[in-house]
Amino acid sequence: MLSPTPPPGTRVLVTGAARGIGRAVADAFAANGARICVLDRDAVPEAPEGWLCRQGSVAVAADVEAAFAAMDAAWGGVDVAHANAGFSMNKPTTELTEAEWRQTVEVNLTGAFLTAQAAARRMLPQGHGLILFTASLFHAVGGADRAAYAATKGGVANLARALACEFGPAGVRVNAIAPGYVETWLINDLIARGRLDGEALMRRSPQRRLVQPAEVAAMACFLASPAAASVNGAVLAVDGGWTANGAP
Ligand SMILES: NC(=O)c1ccc[n+]([C@@H]2O[C@H](COP(=O)([O-])OP(=O)(O)OC[C@H]3O[C@@H](n4cnc5c(N)ncnc54)[C@H](O)[C@@H]3O)[C@@H](O)[C@H]2O)c1
Repeated sequence: MLSPTPPPGTRVLVTGAARGIGRAVADAFAANGARICVLDRDAVPEAPEGWLCRQGSVAVAADVEAAFAAMDAAWGGVDVAHANAGFSMNKPTTELTEAEWRQTVEVNLTGAFLTAQAAARRMLPQGHGLILFTASLFHAVGGADRAAYAATKGGVANLARALACEFGPAGVRVNAIAPGYVETWLINDLIARGRLDGEALMRRSPQRRLVQPAEVAAMACFLASPAAASVNGAVLAVDGGWTANGAP
């Protein structure tokens, strides 16, 4: 039987893991005996001993490269790179500034690309590896005030498909996870600022609840396991049925 958990000692980079989904992913891999490197613009609170924590931006190629170089030095390379860092931009299009549009693309899409590129430069020569992206339900659907966010997440999903085709022959898999509304600072902040209606969210979700960060992390760990060896180029919904629901 194929194991549904990542092998112990797996060398994992997670971006945006100071909190939220990224932290849950890092914790879940660590619970499976993985070695963890975090790249985040913020410091990682209460990082467990042994984690490599690098402060920097995923939108800056030198910062991304420095995180992978730290893994090279400590552990001789990388097995899993999860390009998770990102943020939500909810604003009417006519009010969105050029700088806000560019920042959303820089972090959510260019940051994902730079992380994947640096990972591929190491994984392709070694002949194995997994690149993961955190997309969003907005990779597949639109929504008012989500022009920049939906454009970047659609881009991330198709980046995963393109890279899966390019890297597959060399033994490197690429997949994206598309979470629904996850209970994190990002969502709580949008609700608190009146940019999201929390009660309407619950009504719209077939499960009538937010997705938990650990549930997204569980999918990431599964994708890094031997059981997922043929899952490649997939965009996997972890959204409680949100995108399956055509009713209001
Ligand atoms: N929370 C949700 O409902 C939800 C749903 C779908 C997709 N997502 C996606 O999941 C990912 C994580 O979201 P979250 O909810 O955990 O958000 P969060 O705000 O709780 O955490 C995001 C983390 O990314 C870091 N970060 C932001 N910009 C960065 C940059 N330029 N360089 C390095 N680190 C940076 C932040 O410091 C933070 O630690 C994002 O890509 C987001 O779009 C979230």
